[in-house]
Amino acid sequence: MTDLSTPPLPGALPDKRQVAASFSRAAASYDSVAELQRNVGTALIERLPQHFQPRRWLDLGSGTGYFSRALACAYPDAYGVAVDIAEGMLQHARPLGGAAGYVVGDAERLPVRSSSVDLLFSSLAVQWCSDFAAVLAEARRSLQPGGVMAFASLCVGTLRELRESWQAVDGLVHVNRFRQFEEYQRLCGESGLQVLCLEQVPHVLYYPDVRGLTHELKALGAHNLNPGRNGGLTGRARMTGLLQAYEQFRQPQGLPATYQVVYAVLHKPLEGDN
Ligand SMILES: C[S@@+](CC[C@H](N)C(=O)[O-])C[C@H]1O[C@@H](n2cnc3c(N)ncnc32)[C@H](O)[C@@H]1O
Repeated sequence: MTDLSTPPLPGALPDKRQVAASFSRAAASYDSVAELQRNVGTALIERLPQHFQPRRWLDLGSGTGYFSRALACAYPDAYGVAVDIAEGMLQHARPLGGAAGYVVGDAERLPVRSSSVDLLFSSLAVQWCSDFAAVLAEARRSLQPGGVMAFASLCVGTLRELRESWQAVDGLVHVNRFRQFEEYQRLCGESGLQVLCLEQVPHVLYYPDVRGLTHELKALGAHNLNPGRNGGLTGRARMTGLLQAYEQFRQPQGLPATYQVVYAVLHKPLEGDN
């Protein structure tokens, strides 16, 4: 989660096997702490074009399947597939239903035929992909003409309080890296998909203490997995330093954790459209 004020370089995000293993381990605890994820995915569904009726949808980075079930309710006649890189997440989601199929796959190499999907829905997953241009190219390939990709992601500024607090303690990267919002704008603009909506919205969660936040990140599987993170144990002195540094951000509601959420809705033009 990051921290870096520069956009991440390809390869600077964590290894995909680590991402998959971390989310697989978190499958059982994820839903109990996924308040932000619920709010963001719901806000993404609200941004889908009105009267849009996909026949085939794909929930990309489906996690525990909360939004697969929401899509199944919204589009009861459609055929839905949940795709995730973490087998453990799919195993958790499958018995809960929603999608017709559960497939292990990578957003950068979608396991679907070209022009086979009407709606590609992805909430808070593609921030884990270092090659976002590849994600968009795959979206363009797999969507039917007239199809829609809706994604929510995170950009620079996310968990800035945690990053700045750690930097005050030891200057190291303890927060995953995110792209700049401008990078999302540029890549979406160059994707060959029409941008219907692209905006950055801050969401702030409050915690009574820092441990509440760090335990939650771990339960989500979203704690720092960056190359260059500190691999050693967090010593007592460093943790004390972190708690003290984070206190400068305290507000009446508690300690804030800001998430800078990117919402986007993209449309694949019909053949013959400009
Ligand atoms: C924060 S969870 C979000 C889950 C779900 N969309 C939700 O909103 O509750 C992110 C999910 O993306 C998956 N993921 C990460 N990188 C991925 C990739 N390259 N391709 C597919 N899924 C990926 C993770 O395994 C995890 O299940």
